Amino acid sequence: MNQMLQKHFLSQVDVEDLLKEYGSPLYVYDEKTLRERVKEMVNLLPYPWFGASCSIKANSNLFLLEILKEEGMDADAMSPGEIYLLEKAGFDGSRIFYICNNVSAEEMKYALDRGILISVDSLSQLEMLGRINRGGEVALRFNPGTGAGHHEKVITAGAGTKFGIQENMIEDTKAIAKKYGLRIVGINQHIGSLFLDGKPFIDSVKALLRIAAQFDNLEFVDLGGGFGIPYRRFHGEKHLDLQELRNELAPLLLDFRKQYGGGLKFKIEPGRYPFAECGAILGTVHAVKTNYGTEYIGTDIGFNVLMRPMLYDSYHEIVAFRNNKIIEARDEEKVTIVGNICETGDILARDRYMPPLQEGDVLGVLDAGAYGYVMSSNYNQRLRPAEVLITLNGDIRLIRRRDTLEDLLVGFRF
Ligand code: LLP
Repeated sequence: MNQMLQKHFLSQVDVEDLLKEYGSPLYVYDEKTLRERVKEMVNLLPYPWFGASCSIKANSNLFLLEILKEEGMDADAMSPGEIYLLEKAGFDGSRIFYICNNVSAEEMKYALDRGILISVDSLSQLEMLGRINRGGEVALRFNPGTGAGHHEKVITAGAGTKFGIQENMIEDTKAIAKKYGLRIVGINQHIGSLFLDGKPFIDSVKALLRIAAQFDNLEFVDLGGGFGIPYRRFHGEKHLDLQELRNELAPLLLDFRKQYGGGLKFKIEPGRYPFAECGAILGTVHAVKTNYGTEYIGTDIGFNVLMRPMLYDSYHEIVAFRNNKIIEARDEEKVTIVGNICETGDILARDRYMPPLQEGDVLGVLDAGAYGYVMSSNYNQRLRPAEVLITLNGDIRLIRRRDTLEDLLVGFRF
């Protein structure tokens, strides 16, 4: 583990000093890792008609989003709030794609007023959009019939999921579009989150291309996200094999473009991939105790700070530091690492082997850059942490301040 960690950005900084300066817990991001991962997605296929959009739902920090924009990503959004922030990060309407689900006409208008293309995923939302945007453009989200993902809660296609339009409703979509003079310019899908084996994704691409062939004059096909990262990196889990994915994907898309004609574009929507590995959370051990035979390590990394373990039983590698140095992993002990929230489910890692820990030690939870801060909350009226960025030249830059107690009053000031 330590060998792998030597290359990790957390081993390049003095973690205790960071916590002293910015408070504990703290989100730390690494610009170099972020740029590398973004480039991998943007260049997944080396064709001018292929692009990648970022999903702000995975990380909403404006400074990080600016980097993604600079590296050539467009963006998708799920809500007016996401659109608002994307605009603040410098994305203009033509670079934003509103992939909504069960929204009001007002929310659709918010996007339309900004020149943002909307993807609808039901006949009923297609009707709603038609009524308020006669003669406009629309994209359709299909459910290709199979999904993939690390947990049933994040599989977003196939039976038993709320997303997308079924293939057998294609004729209905055309009829509704005709009724309102809507032009169907794109189709999209998202089969689910976190695949490390590209096969289900490739299968879904084939299914989506079959659907695309049934529409004339499409401008783009959006293949969705879900590109996984190796959360169990110390346990032999490997990176997604991008070369293999490329080898499978390229001929499919090239062939399809040839048959389809026109200037058809393709894109992907990786949410987690650019962000996850570039972020970690640092926190502090405040208590060590044994309860009925279980050794608990009590920290300030509650599920208000990182929700994934509680919500999906997600696994994150955890590294311990003392005096700014990684604690050598000799004589590991089985412990359960918990947070400071008043719920029994507030468990960061169950039955984890860690070096003997004591109060004051610092823990680093790896791969927390995606679906970390964005899913954090003020539950128990805890303050959300600050976020800092290790820049390319090694400086530490504060990119979001920690909440203050006064922030807890914001909603009451009217
Ligand atoms: N496109 C659409 C339409 C999506 O709904 C999502 C994610 C993405 C793209 C990006 O997916 P990704 O590449 O990140 O898998 N909170 C969960 C993940 C929920 C993802 C929701 N939709 C987690 O922490 O694992």
